[in-house]
Amino acid sequence: MKSLTAPLSIMILTFSGCMSTSPSQGPTADAWNNYSTWDKANPSPQTGDPTGFLGNVHQGLLAYREIYVNSTAAPVNSGARPFPYPEGSIIVKESYANQAAHSAKETPELTIMVKLPAGSSPETFDWEYIMGADGMNRGTGTSGLASFCHGCHTAAALTDFTFSTAAFYSQRR
Ligand code: HEC
Repeated sequence: MKSLTAPLSIMILTFSGCMSTSPSQGPTADAWNNYSTWDKANPSPQTGDPTGFLGNVHQGLLAYREIYVNSTAAPVNSGARPFPYPEGSIIVKESYANQAAHSAKETPELTIMVKLPAGSSPETFDWEYIMGADGMNRGTGTSGLASFCHGCHTAAALTDFTFSTAAFYSQRR
């Protein structure tokens, strides 16, 4: 038994050592695999370019998009609490290629934002940007993916780098 527990504790030590040197890594895909049960930010499927900042990303102008916020992010997104979003906030965006793909519930492309502990990624105001449901392609700090995503999301700096907020939708009414 002893010979088994010793290597295990070494593994745990090594693992926690890893965690402390790279704090800019948020949770794995388990944290958002039930996202479709979360609150939705957008009142109806989003298409076209309502913010004027879409360019050709998130599957472009014809795409149908749905945005979900976890229970940590929801009070801020809905306007009940002030920005910024607290640590642990997760926002998942589904992009369907077009209306037909949305109606047929084809597997959407996922892009995700996760709020990391304060100070983890000053360059992105502690947002981690993730591309793909499996969470393998992710970026913080000055990484290419983070710079790409955050560079555009800077247009929404006043609402903690998120476009799809209750305030935004109420202005459109
Ligand atoms: C060229 C600009 C641009 C780039 C680059 C971009 N986004 Fe967005 N993103 C938007 C816009 C505009 C919205 C608002 C929703 C819409 O119009 O579909 C949005 C919405 C989102 C949302 C929902 C929350 C919100 O801000 O409304 C998430 C999550 C998201 N993007 C993640 C990402 C990730 C991850 C990347 C990089 C892989 C990325 N975005 C790159 C423009 C961009």
